[in-house]
Amino acid sequence: MEEKVLYSAAQPSGNLTIGNYIGAIRNWVNLQHEFTCYYAIADMHAITVRQDPAQLRHRTLELAALYIACGIDPAQCTLYVQSNVSAHAELAWVLNTLTYVGEMERMTQFKDKSLKHPENVNMGLMDYPVLMAADILLYQTDLVPVGIDQRQHLEITRDIAARFNNRYGETFRLPEGYIVKEGAKINSLQDPLHKMSKSDENPNASVYLSDDRDTVMRKFKRAVTDSDNCVVASEEKPGVTNLLNIYSAFKNCTVAEAEKQFEGKGYGDFKTAVGETVADVLAPIQAEQKRLLADKQYLADILKRGEENAFRTARKTLSKVYRKVGFYRGE
Ligand code: TRP
Repeated sequence: MEEKVLYSAAQPSGNLTIGNYIGAIRNWVNLQHEFTCYYAIADMHAITVRQDPAQLRHRTLELAALYIACGIDPAQCTLYVQSNVSAHAELAWVLNTLTYVGEMERMTQFKDKSLKHPENVNMGLMDYPVLMAADILLYQTDLVPVGIDQRQHLEITRDIAARFNNRYGETFRLPEGYIVKEGAKINSLQDPLHKMSKSDENPNASVYLSDDRDTVMRKFKRAVTDSDNCVVASEEKPGVTNLLNIYSAFKNCTVAEAEKQFEGKGYGDFKTAVGETVADVLAPIQAEQKRLLADKQYLADILKRGEENAFRTARKTLSKVYRKVGFYRGE
């Protein structure tokens, strides 16, 4: 039986947090052995909000290096930059003609981002889900690992694909969401009832993958807890619970095991241990990322190979689409 195709992408905008690592990247690493994986750096999505061009280019490379440093193996999967494969934009155009303005206006993320950037509600922002549909459908994807915030986008992808198939005949495989079992949700260190976010304005709320040891230690020391000094997870103790989740995710143990380990210990010791555990995981990743970034030719070669691989598959789907919609292709 052929391996299932799994597709995911992340934007090269902003600093990734330990939440992104536990919730996404680390899972990508495991999934590459199980499925035929395509991992893209979604720079075309990134420009739907203003980006500094030099910074965008640099962050694209940084993200590629980070993925590889985290264990994504370019020999096991297809790692590429979205804008390098023109089929994404081309398929998005065709899919646009099967997508309704009203349904795009109703997308939650579009509404949120429009409120956040009222001065720049551009067509790309509104079209974001259609480009995402193109990403996914080009590779005849079976599975998309999606968090809650992207689920609506996956739904619309399925709708658009089904519409195309109905109108023009079977062309696209309908993708399913892939729910990753492990990987607790990681919340803000300052507001532990909300998700840790790479765009949080409070720098102490998020631990970034690029934070050095001192910064990591300081952020955990300042993490919001409560006053009873007892390291147990419970609904009334969101701060401590979040720290326990982080600790167990980075130590690869259960929360119960972690609780046991800190029995009789206070928050001071606990926070130090969480900080050290996280810093110990980040240090080798950072060192490897730095090493890779110093070898631009190596990264360029990897991304070129990824582009070629991706293009080979994407082109097949796009040709089929162009034929079905009636575009003249010569004889
Ligand atoms: N929109 C996704 C995010 O910001 C990134 C993305 C782009 C994506 N294309 C995709 C995710 C296709 C999954 C599948 O997280």
